[in-house]
Amino acid sequence: MFPELRLRRLRRTATLRRMVRETRLSVDNLVYPLFTVPGRRVKRELASMPDCYHLSADMLAREAEEVAKLGIPAVILFGLPESKDEIGSGAWDSKGPVPRAIRAIKKAAPELVVMADVCLCEYTSHGHCGVVRDRYVDNDATLELLSRAAVCYAEAGADIVAPSDMMDGRVGAIRSALDEKGFPMVAILSYAAKYASGFYAPFREAVQSAPQFGDRRSYQMDAANAEEALREVELDLAEGADIVMVKPALAYLDIIRRVRESFPGPLAAYSVSGEYAMIKAAVRQGCLDEKQVALEVLTAIKRAGADIIITYYAKDAARWLKA
Ligand code: PBG
Repeated sequence: MFPELRLRRLRRTATLRRMVRETRLSVDNLVYPLFTVPGRRVKRELASMPDCYHLSADMLAREAEEVAKLGIPAVILFGLPESKDEIGSGAWDSKGPVPRAIRAIKKAAPELVVMADVCLCEYTSHGHCGVVRDRYVDNDATLELLSRAAVCYAEAGADIVAPSDMMDGRVGAIRSALDEKGFPMVAILSYAAKYASGFYAPFREAVQSAPQFGDRRSYQMDAANAEEALREVELDLAEGADIVMVKPALAYLDIIRRVRESFPGPLAAYSVSGEYAMIKAAVRQGCLDEKQVALEVLTAIKRAGADIIITYYAKDAARWLKA
């Protein structure tokens, strides 16, 4: 006991602290999200997310080269189509922005892992993540459409498809479709425990996917539930998910920890748009130090148990970690 025992001894110098550090955030943990749009030479900053852009496939290829050069292993792609319809058919258009972006990235930076988000909300006129019947999202009718989208991205060259829709049974449906179409090696990262969260607002503004009526509570998880997250993870793994994810991250560190303790495989966490925008806003107000706070949050997500962190801070963090 004190005074013989003093925990401050090992905090005395930077080298001592480095030596006993328990969690090490690495560039290897990071995934950078990118938003791709139709057209050429388009690079438009997002009003809701400073330093993030709408990029056409040509511009995105350059961005991918920079991301690869920074040592970041992967990107995840979201697309904004030319036009939207009731069933979100733009999601499986082989000439759509995401397949074009995948091909462009694979040419520009072949070693970069390309993940494609699979969901209909960016492509439906009503903004819901599936087919709507009588103002309710029809689970089973949506599975076929999600499978088409996943196969379309696999055909374009995606390494990983990432269903974020929260329909029941979608991981199994997508796995069967990929295997049937000759893509047994394309992996699935499932947004297994995805919560109905207010923290997605800046993203929805960026891809114009806010639901035109109602909300997503009939398919995304209730923020109050933790046990249910473990069931979601278990089911997605049983259906063939290679990586499971918890989303958002910062307000759900307990969920990340519990999922970590429930299975040994790769676990991802998505530090979402609202988490990013919140830090950016506070930094702009002059009340937070951006580098310190962003790295602290990312380290906390890793400490909670995530191996893979999807973050809009990936490029900054890669630079900060190198320095
Ligand atoms: C699509 C999807 C969303 C996000 C990732 N995939 C939005 C939503 O569910 O409304 C959010 C990402 C973010 O906020 O950064 N379903």
